[in-house]
Amino acid sequence: MKRIIPVSSGKGGVGKTTFATNFALSLARHGKTVLVDLDTGTSAIRHAIDTPVTRDLYHFFRKGEPLANCVTQIDSKLDPDGTYKNFGFIAGPLHLIDEITNFGPQHKSHLIDAINSLDANFIILDMRAGLDSTVIDFLPVSNSGILVFTPHLPSATLAASDIVKAILFRKLRLIFGKNSPFYDTVDGRLDFFRLTNELIDRVEDVYDGSMRNLDEFAEDLKASLGDHQITRTVQSTLDTFRVHFVLNLFHGVDESYQTAIRPFIENLTGNVSSRCGITNLGWVTKSDAIHKANCRSVPALLATESDRKKAKDRVAQELEDLRITAIGLEPPKKKSHTPKHGERASDPGDHLTAQLDTLSAMFEQRRADDYRANFEYITQRALFTMKTRRSNEFGDTRIHRPHEMLDVIFAKSAHP
Ligand SMILES: Nc1ncnc2c1ncn2[C@@H]1O[C@H](COP(=O)(O)OP(=O)(O)O)[C@@H](O)[C@H]1O
Ligand SMILES: [Mg+2]
Repeated sequence: MKRIIPVSSGKGGVGKTTFATNFALSLARHGKTVLVDLDTGTSAIRHAIDTPVTRDLYHFFRKGEPLANCVTQIDSKLDPDGTYKNFGFIAGPLHLIDEITNFGPQHKSHLIDAINSLDANFIILDMRAGLDSTVIDFLPVSNSGILVFTPHLPSATLAASDIVKAILFRKLRLIFGKNSPFYDTVDGRLDFFRLTNELIDRVEDVYDGSMRNLDEFAEDLKASLGDHQITRTVQSTLDTFRVHFVLNLFHGVDESYQTAIRPFIENLTGNVSSRCGITNLGWVTKSDAIHKANCRSVPALLATESDRKKAKDRVAQELEDLRITAIGLEPPKKKSHTPKHGERASDPGDHLTAQLDTLSAMFEQRRADDYRANFEYITQRALFTMKTRRSNEFGDTRIHRPHEMLDVIFAKSAHP
């Protein structure tokens, strides 16, 4: 198995690096794992793991080192038993180097090739915050990778749904773009493609209320094209897209629901699409122990028992009633539902109920819990998803270039 899973957040400060690092460590118990620091402006991973780095992305970009030679294993003082011997990380450069921080198309292409050929079962990408092409071009075609957000930073929640929007629009712009093989499949193609692109602009523009979301766009397309290859492609793009998220700095059900999950789902279903699947992979508790470990440059999962006892965690105490229960819980089965005229295209209700059920289930059973259990839970769910779902439903086996992506979409539409 090989899976490349980007971890992104739209905004900084939500604990993306903390999550990506510990998640990668946790996965490493199940297979060879490489964590790549693509937040090359802050290079946070090298500071998060107290281990000497001899080669990093600088050596890859400037010295022509193969990427595999830039992988650092963790120092044995952090992992005396070798529990995480299958873990390695690729650090960002030590200092800010403009051409590496803001890499252009050539650097990007070189790095994508190298990541695609890395020999590992799991490749976790710590993406930078924000939504420029250095982020978007690394994201999978038909799912969101893992989005991290937190009740503590409501603006990051909306930024997370904007990532989903960016992935879907990138795909639509390819389908209706200059080099699209779909071009030859419609009559009056020039006008049709021009009009459709105007329509896409209107959906993407949040200030333009005339076309609310992609569900309306898909219906509009169906009305003008009927049952056509393009209509089917757009519909299935929405129907098969899957969003995965993790809630960090979890503090309580009500707060998480009101300030993070609900706004996330309402924004997603309202402004993007209500047709995609939404999976809550789990949560990470707000924990003094995690923060203290971070301050000492020790990933929380590598903190020793005695460290943990020293840093007695109030929130973890509060969450002693918590237990892993929701493995296998899924959002409601997608209805292939065509909204009638005048009917609201999105029904966030289904999604919200499922999410609330998951959250409550997390709290229902009574047993001690801590952040280790949180990571174990998320890891089990991630592995379960990888095993039971199509490989492009969660991360992907490779990072696709635009032309490859288009070829795949077109080929699929011809032989559904
Ligand atoms: N679950 C958590 N509990 C307590 N503190 C956390 C948790 N997750 C992250 N932090 C703290 O939040 C800050 C930002 O975390 P970081 O992982 O660097 O975020 P990002 O990569 O999104 O900018 C750090 O000080 C970190 O120690
Ligand atoms: Mg970070």
